[in-house]
Amino acid sequence: MKKKPVMIDVDTGIDDAMALVIACAAENLDIKGVTTVAGNVEVKDTTRNTLNVLDLLGRGDIPVAAGAAAPLARPLAKASYVHGATGLRGYNFKENVRYALREEPAWDFMRQVLESSGEKVTLCALGPVTNLAVLIEKYPEVKPKIERIVFMGASYHTGNPGPVQTFNVMVDPEAFRQVVHSGVPFYAVPLDTTRKAYLTAQEKEAVKEMAGPAAELVQGVLFSYGAAFVTGDEQLDDGQEVSTTTGNKEREGGKTCLHDPSTVAFLTAPELFTVAGPYYCDVECKGELTSGFTLIDKEDWYCKDEDEKHFYFVDSVNREGLKDLFYRSIRHYQKG
Ligand code: RIB
Ligand code: CA
Repeated sequence: MKKKPVMIDVDTGIDDAMALVIACAAENLDIKGVTTVAGNVEVKDTTRNTLNVLDLLGRGDIPVAAGAAAPLARPLAKASYVHGATGLRGYNFKENVRYALREEPAWDFMRQVLESSGEKVTLCALGPVTNLAVLIEKYPEVKPKIERIVFMGASYHTGNPGPVQTFNVMVDPEAFRQVVHSGVPFYAVPLDTTRKAYLTAQEKEAVKEMAGPAAELVQGVLFSYGAAFVTGDEQLDDGQEVSTTTGNKEREGGKTCLHDPSTVAFLTAPELFTVAGPYYCDVECKGELTSGFTLIDKEDWYCKDEDEKHFYFVDSVNREGLKDLFYRSIRHYQKG
């Protein structure tokens, strides 16, 4: 089977970890590397979590490079209340492993991979796109080597945390603007769609019957994901948190949305999704109430030239198919 070369940029966090379960089990993905960024938690934590998760999944062969510790032009706003102080509430690793960690920063590693690849590489971003912005700013000559960017986030008219902004954009809207205007084809798996990519309470219970390292990881984090699970002894940030009541929409009726897993699923099983576009897209960077709002010009109000329309909107998901893919991926690691 022909494998698609990809690099995955993560802010591991609970759903990033579950996305890596799908990515590392996918027979049609050639994961050239994983890069880490500050987002859900600090970059030291997202890096530690990513190294440990890849090792747990038997994919310690995948190089990891650490990236930005903060957004381009604003303080980091984390989401420890959702993912836990460590970023992976509900699962503790026996030890921390660092053997796959590269010396160079994420953007230098990305550049090396892009320049040495004989074919274009897809960049999959599951967190704020700070690393991608630095890569494109420092090394614009690599843009022709990028097949496309696949991103978890943006939204047409919904938000988390907040009525209109999505976390991965809100943390670093300046970076998002640079990347979405870079001319590289940009495929967003937006919150409008990832909210339809959920597991019901009953479907989550099925995970408890599974065995293997991925099952143990998911059994831990899936049932600890969300503001409702903040434990008294967690040392969450003082004031750096964007503490909102997003728990309601993301988990109403006991369901859990698979934001990052559905984005990786779009890479490995695009037949489960439909795509609209291309559109012109920009982002609010200064709004007192709307910073991080993605303006997706579906109705062409701005009459932009076609060469300014690089934004594709993944607008539907086969939820049952995604659930089955997630289950298959978890079982992939079961020995015997
Ligand atoms: O809004 C959900 C997104 O923000 C996911 O990528 C989650 O991991 C957080 O980064
Ligand atoms: Ca993420």
